[in-house]
Amino acid sequence: MLFPAHNPAQQVLNWHCRSNNISESNISAAAVDMREHVYRIRKMYGMPIGRTIPYDDADFRAAYMLAYFPYYIEPICHVLESAELPDSLFSTGTLKAAFFGGGPCPEALGLAAYLRKRAPRLARAEATAFDRQPDWNPIQQELVPMMLPSYKSEHTTFALNSRSCDVVECLARQCTCGVADMDIIIGQNFLTEVYANRTRAIATFERLIQRSTCRYLVFVENQYDQVKVLMNELSACLYDKGLTTSRPTAETRTIRPNFRLPQVMQQHLFTWEDGLKPRYSVTFHHMVLEIAR
Ligand SMILES: C[S@@+](CC[C@H](N)C(=O)[O-])C[C@H]1O[C@@H](n2cnc3c(N)ncnc32)[C@H](O)[C@@H]1O
Repeated sequence: MLFPAHNPAQQVLNWHCRSNNISESNISAAAVDMREHVYRIRKMYGMPIGRTIPYDDADFRAAYMLAYFPYYIEPICHVLESAELPDSLFSTGTLKAAFFGGGPCPEALGLAAYLRKRAPRLARAEATAFDRQPDWNPIQQELVPMMLPSYKSEHTTFALNSRSCDVVECLARQCTCGVADMDIIIGQNFLTEVYANRTRAIATFERLIQRSTCRYLVFVENQYDQVKVLMNELSACLYDKGLTTSRPTAETRTIRPNFRLPQVMQQHLFTWEDGLKPRYSVTFHHMVLEIAR
């Protein structure tokens, strides 16, 4: 039982209703209204590689929050736990983390839950979401901070900063948006987005390692086969250039996140009609690279 005391799907639904002025009596109708958007987003993520994903569309982002966000909190926590990171990473009292393509940052909550277990006395986590889509900012600055107390240690101050930045473009130039000063960089469901230009994606991580003080690169990716191949290519390439200490291969894991879908979502959104099945598990590829310092 990782997170027994609260329900992220319920918190996201409450947020959705509050941000759209949906009253208690209209929640069922609002859930029905979301069906077409969830149907569309699921179809798109069936094969997203090489497509432009409409993160600038408010309905698309709302569907992402309801259909994906709650499921993407726990994976990073499991991945970091398995990585057995050294005590020295937490010894300064502040951990600096970057989320590449952080979007609504469910991984911030997973990182906080990991730290609660691994370094419960850590004074400060300073996380920064780097995303080229600024419309996620209200989620990063309002919803996630509201949810953080259920995940983080009471001894840790967890700050989440937002940077509107295309990390591939930024790292191709002289990046001044703060990526250099990080201990750990997390790319969750990010490589899929930059897959179309794989050579450029790999070059981005090379530059990143050269420019930053970062000690670990952590990837958690949706279960697309091509992305797993890219992860292994990246691991091999960075190791061959002497930038990492070992050459791990990407692994795949399935978990069953520990929350229930709110009843209104079961009855009016994930009703099995038009293939809108409720989801109970998440399968992801993961890999942790230790940078040679
Ligand atoms: C699938 S979402 C993942 C969001 C979050 N990490 C998660 O796991 O739920 C991918 C995000 O990557 C962002 N993105 C794609 N390419 C990017 C780039 N080159 N630089 C910065 N952000 C990028 C998109 O705007 C989008 O918000």
